[in-house]
Amino acid sequence: MAGAAGATGAASLLSGKRASAQKPVKGDPGGTTKPPPTTTTPTVNPGTIANPTPFIEPLPIPAVLQPVASLSPAPIPSKHQLYSQYVPKKFYEVHVKEGMHSFHPALPPQKIFGYNGVTPGYTIKARYGEPILTRFFNELPPDYVGIGVPQISPHLHNLHGAPESDGNPVNFFDPGYFWDNHYPMFPFNNDSRNALGTLWCHDHRFDFTAQNVYKGLAFFYLCYDALDSGTEVASTTYPNSLRLPSGEFDVPLMISDRKFDSNGNLAYDTFNLDGMLGDKYTVNGKIQPFFKVARRKYRFRLLVANPSRFYRFFLSNGDPFTVIGNDGNLLPAPIQMQSIYLGVAERADIIIDFSKYPIGTEIILENRLEQEDGRGPTGDLLNPGTPLLKFIVDRDVASDPSQVPATLRPLPPLPSNTEINALRTRHWKFDRSNGAWTVNGEFFDPDVVRAQVKRGTKEVWVLENGGGGWHHPIHIHHNEFRILSRNGVKPPPFEQGRKDVVTLEPGEEVRVLMEFSAFLGKYPIHCHNTVHEDHAMMALWEIVP
Ligand code: C2O
Ligand code: CU
Repeated sequence: MAGAAGATGAASLLSGKRASAQKPVKGDPGGTTKPPPTTTTPTVNPGTIANPTPFIEPLPIPAVLQPVASLSPAPIPSKHQLYSQYVPKKFYEVHVKEGMHSFHPALPPQKIFGYNGVTPGYTIKARYGEPILTRFFNELPPDYVGIGVPQISPHLHNLHGAPESDGNPVNFFDPGYFWDNHYPMFPFNNDSRNALGTLWCHDHRFDFTAQNVYKGLAFFYLCYDALDSGTEVASTTYPNSLRLPSGEFDVPLMISDRKFDSNGNLAYDTFNLDGMLGDKYTVNGKIQPFFKVARRKYRFRLLVANPSRFYRFFLSNGDPFTVIGNDGNLLPAPIQMQSIYLGVAERADIIIDFSKYPIGTEIILENRLEQEDGRGPTGDLLNPGTPLLKFIVDRDVASDPSQVPATLRPLPPLPSNTEINALRTRHWKFDRSNGAWTVNGEFFDPDVVRAQVKRGTKEVWVLENGGGGWHHPIHIHHNEFRILSRNGVKPPPFEQGRKDVVTLEPGEEVRVLMEFSAFLGKYPIHCHNTVHEDHAMMALWEIVP
């Protein structure tokens, strides 16, 4: 039954066919009894279309979603933990439906799944202290057959929120229903050092996450506060603002590889349980676009949104860039790096200063990591790499008021070793069994909670790679962790921040510090190679009083 405190009663039928699907009952969304579809149309056309000409279309920038004045029917406060403490100040409506999309002019326009019918959907710009309620309507065709299924669970990766508003994989719901997610917008432990920045919302319907996200269900959710204020000019509202590049100079980049059949239609290999790799590369939904930039600083938020591919991002000229954030968090200080390695669902906030390049300069953002199957990268670097996005320096600016201060967001200090050694330790082993994927030897079971933890405590979780040369990007919901060690060694500086995904390389054992507060209920831990996740590499754990 419902794991979330505060979730009460059965879903009630409301106006027309639409009902509140807020009741978090697994496999029984909104009280319907329809069994989940078990088959989808696999790739019928094994061919693949030749690489279309790169860099002929501009990079799309997802529009900012505007709030609505109110929701009708009104949300039900009793269904959300901490609602009365964090009463929503902003309401959004997101309609999950099919839409027509062009990945590239050489490919036929085709139907995708989109938040409001577009992919990547609109960006939500959220602010700490301004709680949000987002209502997701499932308007997908009930009889849909193809890549993905028309049941959804919109998950906000990795907001600190309650399980009933998390987009828990088991809380999926059918077409004709909606679900309200309450985003309370307070930092973990109400400590602004834990405030988040670059988040993304993606579908999480268990067993079908890879396909539903691949089909288009992903968008950015960016959080701002007094420090990361969203303004780059001196401001009396935010006197402590870092003044990072903002507005049109703060650019999210959702990177996803995809496969297209010889007719140019999106293709997906349902039978490969190792992972799904594409040979075309989309950035914000377009294959290899270009982006015209001014001679000034830009902030780019890199996100790996595809099912199984890992990346090592380089600039084609080999120049370093400035890394200011990793996953959801700003780092304590900027780091100069020549490349950055990201597994699935990891993010990096980077600053590129184009002022040092003359007008007419072209620089390509590329991936130099070789990967041939779902096992993970081979470890070899390609040079040149795969081109993803071309920057074209095309104009001067009168001034660049943005800054990259030497101090960004301070990190809360780690507990002492003595304190850490006294904590309860829990092991999670990610392994393979009979061609499918396990956590601690078990397949995902939506009915079984594998661990219970006490609210208000800390634990050390040991994430172990079961071997076989597999790479697993491990993600834990509820709250970010701190990486204590990788194979006994302190992680590199850009991994010393707060993280919500950690890549578990072959043979590795990663120790992370977990802390539980505020909410009660069930959250998942899973591999974010979503093909592994969908084939059972997930477990539920629960926070209890
Ligand atoms: Cu990005 Cu459990 O999800
Ligand atoms: Cu995995």
